[in-house]
Amino acid sequence: MERHIQMFLKRLSYVSITIGTITFILLLLKTPDTCVAPDSPPKPHLRFPKSSCDSSPRELLPLHKKNKRLWSTKTWQNKVQSFSNFFRACYQMGLLHNDSKVLCVSAGAGHEVMALNQLGVADVTGIELLDSPPLVSRADPHNLPFFDDVFDLGFSAHFAKAMFPNRFVSEMERTVRAGGVCVVVVDECGDEEVREIVDLFTNSSFLGALNVTLTGLRMTRIIMKVQHLP
Ligand SMILES: *[C@@H]1O[C@H](CO)[C@@H](O)[C@H](O)[C@H]1NC(C)=O
Ligand SMILES: *[C@@H]1O[C@H](CO)[C@@H](O)[C@H](O)[C@H]1NC(C)=O
Ligand SMILES: *[C@@H]1O[C@H](CO)[C@@H](O)[C@H](O)[C@H]1NC(C)=O
Repeated sequence: MERHIQMFLKRLSYVSITIGTITFILLLLKTPDTCVAPDSPPKPHLRFPKSSCDSSPRELLPLHKKNKRLWSTKTWQNKVQSFSNFFRACYQMGLLHNDSKVLCVSAGAGHEVMALNQLGVADVTGIELLDSPPLVSRADPHNLPFFDDVFDLGFSAHFAKAMFPNRFVSEMERTVRAGGVCVVVVDECGDEEVREIVDLFTNSSFLGALNVTLTGLRMTRIIMKVQHLP
């Protein structure tokens, strides 16, 4: 009986040692998750460090190939075209210039960023909770990682999805300089709802509202001029 138990214990310890050794070797072989520095320096008005760790799972697929495929689809191009038409109107109103610094909040996959770039606006920053490099960086619309007064135009086509509209608006107003504009587009609505949205902008004056078609949807465009009242 005792010999049996001894043999059993011996075997058990061999098994444990083998498992332990294999685990140890596997741990040694596993490459550490080191963060490498971003290859391009962040824009000067960005406050947060950007690390390649954020996008490491995606780098398994070459990003430029993925983007090339996405950007060549008809759906993508139609949406970008629609945003281009929308922003052309902003040029005509004198609210947007090629040298404007533009912030696109909740920019999704970045259609509006691409549209602005194609029109000739070089300095466009797109942010969204999920990044879509190179067009859109990751940031929280309710806590923008930018200094005050750095943008000439703040834009959002997804304001209606904001979890905290007050906070969303005050962050837009904070980062847009006095004299700059905030342009938000919401599902087509009447004067009452426009008034409600306008009232959220405590540091801006109302420039106008217009029903427009954007990406095939009937929307209402609201433009506010930032003033930074004390
Ligand atoms: C803005 O940039 C676009 C593209 O580079 C150019 O065609 C256009 O003439 C520029 N507009 C102005 C007013 O400079
Ligand atoms: C937009 O359309 C709605 C009807 O859907 C109308 O009530 C509203 O007055 C229009 N707004 C403007 C600014 O024309
Ligand atoms: C309005 O602007 C002033 C001055 O920049 C700032 O102190 C204040 O907090 C702003 N108000 C809101 C609600 O963001």
